[in-house]
Amino acid sequence: MSILEAVDLKKTFANVTAVDGVSLDVGTGEIIGLLGPNGAGKSTTLHMLLGLITPDSGSIRMFGMELAGHRVEALSRINFAASYVDLPGVLHVREVLDVFARLYGVRDPKSRVGELIELLDLGPLRKRKVMELSSGQRTRVQLAKALVNEPSLLILDEPTANLDPDAGDRIRSLLVRLARENGRAMLITSHNMQEVERMCDRIHFMSSGRIVASGSAAELAGVYGAESLEEVFLKVARS
Ligand SMILES: Nc1ncnc2c1ncn2[C@@H]1O[C@H](COP(=O)(O)OP(=O)(O)OP(=O)(O)O)[C@@H](O)[C@H]1O
Ligand SMILES: [Mg+2]
Repeated sequence: MSILEAVDLKKTFANVTAVDGVSLDVGTGEIIGLLGPNGAGKSTTLHMLLGLITPDSGSIRMFGMELAGHRVEALSRINFAASYVDLPGVLHVREVLDVFARLYGVRDPKSRVGELIELLDLGPLRKRKVMELSSGQRTRVQLAKALVNEPSLLILDEPTANLDPDAGDRIRSLLVRLARENGRAMLITSHNMQEVERMCDRIHFMSSGRIVASGSAAELAGVYGAESLEEVFLKVARS
């Protein structure tokens, strides 16, 4: 089933065309990767899908509903994580998760927060203030927050950017498990090509606001005569 369908999204800021006709869809349990060089328009695309900024044109449907007319219902069934989103820094980790659980109207907030603390290995940090955490620790809190409402669609802007190799590996395994076993759909951006190769069912390469190549990692490698996604990236970005 299609969870998200975006058609011909466009966004221009002053004199910069950030997104120039992007269409994509995400189905149940699928992990879709959005790749591309800095400034390609990936975050802007995600922000339109999240209703944080309004597209100049194009349409966004989530769960069969037009986002513009059904924001509250659609957004209550998705969630978002990015390192640049601020969490309330003076609160303890557990309190932050509790606040978000209540905001999302989670049925049993206490037990959900306990599950998330376990899942993201936040036990030793639960009584620490968010502003005192390291960037990688904060990333794990962001991911816990993003899972609080058991979202059908997770939008993740560079979810593992601050994580050490061990934590990154654990998070990738967790996300893949959530997609495969719980049917959660994900749209992620990343500059880590091995991560994308491992996690994503389909990949869209963006360049200057447009999708210039799409397919699985293996398909893209075939099309570009490359041995790895990293090599595909270099060929696409430099062509
Ligand atoms: N609020 C804004 N005002 C003006 N220009 C913006 C704004 N947000 C993004 N842009 C511009 O739009 C373009 C796309 O930016 P975007 O953040 O979407 O890129 P990105 O693909 O996410 O890059 P990165 O890999 O560096 O995160 C850039 O040229 C950026 O400067
Ligand atoms: Mg970005």
